[in-house]
Amino acid sequence: MEQTVVLVKPDAVKKQVIGKIITYLENAHFHLVAGKFTRLTDEIIDRWYKHHQDKPFFPELKKFMMETPVMAMIWEGEGVVAKVREICGPTDSLKAPKGTIRGDLGTDIQYNVVHASEDEENAKREIGLLFELTPQG
Ligand code: CMP
Repeated sequence: MEQTVVLVKPDAVKKQVIGKIITYLENAHFHLVAGKFTRLTDEIIDRWYKHHQDKPFFPELKKFMMETPVMAMIWEGEGVVAKVREICGPTDSLKAPKGTIRGDLGTDIQYNVVHASEDEENAKREIGLLFELTPQG
């Protein structure tokens, strides 16, 4: 069955909206099959966002992602990768329509409350990084 990774980012953890974010995904009838509240390390962020390492926003992104632990989850269901990205809305919260997670809860392009895997290949890579290579807890 298709799987995707959703990270609830530090801005959402601080706003105490982890439960709300889970509700958007449950309402779409996807299944939460794994989850952990965990601090991202320097190494994991470098590997997670390797395609963004040369971007000017990368240092700020890294700092932001380490502000608090993140809630990392694996969600499962038919077409879950694309559908969850739709439910999240576009990267820039200011451009995200109301009714999407980022449109309702996000602040801007950086503080956009969630990360969702881009495609199935990235979902597998991200599951490997957070759920297979690192100890639980
Ligand atoms: P995410 O979908 O996790 O992918 C990369 C993250 O970098 C993005 O969400 C934002 O939190 C952050 N970011 C900050 N500035 C930008 C930008 N200009 N373009 C894309 N992502 C950005």
